[in-house]
Amino acid sequence: MAMTGVLRPGIVQLRVLDMEAALKHYADHVGLDVVSRGEDGRVYLKAWDEFDRHSVVLREADHAGMDLFAFKVDSEASLDRFEKRIEDFGLAVDHVPAGQQPGVGRRLGVVIASGHRIELYHAIEPAEEHPEIHNPYIWRQAPHGMGAIRMDHGLLYGPNIEQVLAFFTGALDFQLTEKVDTPDGLLGIWMSCSNKAHDIAFVKHAEPGKFHHLAFYLEDWNAVGHAADLMIRHDVPIDIGPTRHGITRGQTIYFFDPSGNRNEVFAGSYHFYPDEPVRCWDHTEIGRGIFYYQKVLNDRFLTVVT
Ligand SMILES: [Fe+2]
Repeated sequence: MAMTGVLRPGIVQLRVLDMEAALKHYADHVGLDVVSRGEDGRVYLKAWDEFDRHSVVLREADHAGMDLFAFKVDSEASLDRFEKRIEDFGLAVDHVPAGQQPGVGRRLGVVIASGHRIELYHAIEPAEEHPEIHNPYIWRQAPHGMGAIRMDHGLLYGPNIEQVLAFFTGALDFQLTEKVDTPDGLLGIWMSCSNKAHDIAFVKHAEPGKFHHLAFYLEDWNAVGHAADLMIRHDVPIDIGPTRHGITRGQTIYFFDPSGNRNEVFAGSYHFYPDEPVRCWDHTEIGRGIFYYQKVLNDRFLTVVT
């Protein structure tokens, strides 16, 4: 499948309350590598199978949550094209100059109807320790911690889900892969810009701009089990799992970083092709949709966000 335009989730910037505790979590436990520390205190990290300089940015702040979720696009020309399409859609675009994050070119920013800041960029330096490309070994160094392969997707909570769907599909060429309907409209949407079952998802929530989780991809169900073992050994608070999602079919654990931001390790799932129909869930089946084995939501799924 040819992928053009928006390629994938590229960079997420999270707020953490205590940087050293956060690094112990994301580097030692999740298994990301620290790439650099900025003079402003931000720390840049990447997963072992990512080619670009960094994918996760941590910023120390007095409240947890997400500053921005940025997608990489395939060219500078696409960046210009999407700027016009976002403005034609009726939203204002702002510009972040090259170098605001080390090694990253100019970025476009837009605050969408759910209250989240979404960004697009094209240019980013390659990682010094990128995966090998000449007679490659499967990795340079054995993955550590939970062995996160890549930053995979996010789930965000906010109002105006119908407008969010219209924006991603109408202005950025995402496709809706799965949705949960209620008699009052959409409760949740899962959208793909690629061959994945989702690259970003939203659940309807009264308060704008809330963060539900950031997911890291793992190799398989055994890796999810190993991650669970590490969480118990290191007292990482588990929200739920190991279990499976009905929606996306991913094998999963939800857990929390020391600041209360929810993380997920995620494996499996299906490949999505653009000719596939939308998978539709009735709200009465959402328990099985979210937590396939338990068949009921825990209270935290709809209430605990940062
Ligand atoms: Fe997820």
